[in-house]
Amino acid sequence: MRPLIAGNWKMHGTLAEATALARGVAAGPAAGADLLVCPPFPHLAAVSEALRGSHVALGAQDCHAAAKGAHTGDVSAPMLKDVGARFVILGHSERRADHGESDAVVKAKAEAALAEGLVPVVCVGESEAQRLAGEAEAVVAGQLAGSLPAGFAAAGGVVAYEPVWAIGTGRTPTEADIAAMHARIRAELERSFGEAGAALRILYGGSVKPGNAQAILALPHVDGALVGGASLKAEDFLGIAGAV
Ligand code: PGA
Repeated sequence: MRPLIAGNWKMHGTLAEATALARGVAAGPAAGADLLVCPPFPHLAAVSEALRGSHVALGAQDCHAAAKGAHTGDVSAPMLKDVGARFVILGHSERRADHGESDAVVKAKAEAALAEGLVPVVCVGESEAQRLAGEAEAVVAGQLAGSLPAGFAAAGGVVAYEPVWAIGTGRTPTEADIAAMHARIRAELERSFGEAGAALRILYGGSVKPGNAQAILALPHVDGALVGGASLKAEDFLGIAGAV
């Protein structure tokens, strides 16, 4: 399947930097992968404009479970759709940790995204303590069971496996560990969604860089990458996309 290389810009950059980064990514070659960038909320409209007519898709980093209402500081899926987003990252470990998002909350948000025709990119991943305790696969299987709504596969939903301890640390699991986890995720997706689960993209995220991208992206059931730090420079992000 065609890989997806997604940039999670997190809480970085001015408006000018965001639009310049978007233009830089869009100016790169249409590699053998689909490209996606996910800027902070205030920059979505300008980045949407900067990407207009390009091969790079727009996504957001979160949405609320409700379509509208009295939710100060939150942003709804219809608003994201309206501004040109096609994807939304949900359940990133930073949101699970910083905002106490449970699997049930992530699932409700994913349902809201699906209702708007947005593709959810649902993040799962174990902590270092959980990996050391030999619980990594069970933790991730539990997160998948709790976070993915019924319509997920029909909508071409994306799963991102991001071990918490590999995010922003420069550390990555061994290739064997990544391959084993992605095989487990594939099995869980097939168990939940049947044949449709075989066609869903499973991204790896956590310290992906141009230097390690090729080896990681070549692993079975690794169908792309969710990139944080290295997505903030167009050259690095395009280097990762070029490693597909
Ligand atoms: P990183 O972040 O590439 O900076 O490790 C990945 C992510 O959190 O999505």
